[in-house]
Amino acid sequence: MVTVKVPATSANLGSGFDALGLALTLYNTVQMEEWDGPDIASLDDVEVPSGPDNLIYATAGRLYEICGRPFRGLRIRQKNDIPMARGLGSSSACLVGGLLGANALLGNPLRTEDLLNLAAALEGHPDNVAPAILGGLVTCAMEEGKVYSVSVPVAPNVHFAAMIPETPLPTSHARSVLPESVSRSDAVYNLSRAALMTSSLFSGSLENLRVATGDRLHQPYRMGLIRGADAAFRIARELGAYGVYISGAGSTIMAIIDKEKADFAERLRHQLMMNGVFGWSVRLLESDPAGASVRLEG
Ligand code: HSE
Repeated sequence: MVTVKVPATSANLGSGFDALGLALTLYNTVQMEEWDGPDIASLDDVEVPSGPDNLIYATAGRLYEICGRPFRGLRIRQKNDIPMARGLGSSSACLVGGLLGANALLGNPLRTEDLLNLAAALEGHPDNVAPAILGGLVTCAMEEGKVYSVSVPVAPNVHFAAMIPETPLPTSHARSVLPESVSRSDAVYNLSRAALMTSSLFSGSLENLRVATGDRLHQPYRMGLIRGADAAFRIARELGAYGVYISGAGSTIMAIIDKEKADFAERLRHQLMMNGVFGWSVRLLESDPAGASVRLEG
């Protein structure tokens, strides 16, 4: 049996639409072994598809097919700590769990680079799957089906407060509201800030993050899809967050904070409620430096 632990991810970081992402200290765990047909169950109270349409199962089957190996089926037990459809990379975690688990069961025929290319092709963009596999803060680009990426550690003084709404937001919907083309000034606005974001998070230059999270490519179009987002941005900034952005396609709003602000989550929860933003949970997270891990037993 193989056990894969995959971190949650936060893509875009505001300015780095489809190009930046980081891994977080929140995990899904997948146990997988060869079986006759699908035998799939959740190890927590999260409902997951139990048939061949289960994303982990289907992705693992795809890897068997690509490697030219017969696929009988899998027994999968999954623990789902990453909330689904909230912009924290839950579907990427399933894809990566399926690919890495199947690859390990087959004796590792594919290299990390191949798995990354495959995961990005299946997901459609690399900014969640790359940090899920590599860990840290990842800058990535895709060209002709290949992912070019660099993972760097996030400065240790940087922590994250994830404000997670009750309501999910499917990525397909959050992408459907984006314009087909943007002006040169908006493109330059984001380019400069995305570059600033990578170097600032790496070096711990927190004072740059308010500007570096600035975005004109996706957040202005998505804010209206997340009830309470305006208040969440304002409250997090008032409480001293260095930068605030929509995590991935949403609905989570992420605040980048100083490690020293231990009571930030509590104050955030209180202020969200005081401002009529109900049903949101707040989680304090750090950057995961290592990415997905695979353990083979038996
Ligand atoms: N970069 C993607 C988006 C992340 O913003 O749509 C969501 O998967």
